[in-house]
Amino acid sequence: MREPVHSCEEFLLSRRSIRAFRDEDVSVDLILKAIDIARYAPSSGNRQPWEFMIIKSKDRIKELADIHPWARPALGASAVVIVLVNEKQSPVSYIVDGAIAATYLWLALHCLGLGAVWLQTLRNTNKLREILSIPQEYLPVAILAIGYPAEKPKTKPRKSLEELVHVEEFGNKLLKKNLSKR
Ligand SMILES: Cc1cc2nc3c(=O)[nH]c(=O)nc-3n(C[C@H](O)[C@H](O)[C@H](O)COP(=O)(O)O)c2cc1C
Repeated sequence: MREPVHSCEEFLLSRRSIRAFRDEDVSVDLILKAIDIARYAPSSGNRQPWEFMIIKSKDRIKELADIHPWARPALGASAVVIVLVNEKQSPVSYIVDGAIAATYLWLALHCLGLGAVWLQTLRNTNKLREILSIPQEYLPVAILAIGYPAEKPKTKPRKSLEELVHVEEFGNKLLKKNLSKR
């Protein structure tokens, strides 16, 4: 189980990309529990253009890990979830909606004590359609490789608030003295 966190802030800040997994089965029921939470993600017009594929077969997981060198972390995963979006159901917003659903799913998995990493799909969408028999109108927006964490990675550095925030007008940056340190 995940170590207990004591606040929403701590919970959000403690999500990491987990790429090393224990050799322990993650049940479909637990994954369904996470998907059940993820389906409450917001979407444009509440169209919910997303669907989810759960993959547990080792052979298929290996095929997914082989689509790109950066997809290799899938190899040790107990399960993989593909987040798909249907362009026809939400033509303007489907990619954004899919990214939000995938993020909700990642946070839900973290909440349930599971580790996950988002693996890029957008370079290899046709390959993924081929491997998983996904129809053309569906875009696989994310692969989440899932398992019980076997590592506790340090937080990677983030850009500072100063770099990121403009106040009222573009270019009007925050003053250093007003910023909190983390
Ligand atoms: C859209 C997206 C694509 C990503 N693709 C990969 C990937 O292909 N392989 C990988 O190991 N990590 C991938 N990641 C994970 C990022 O590398 C990671 O989120 C980032 O380095 C920050 O680390 P953290 O998640 O531990 O905070 C991806 C993350 C996102 C949001």
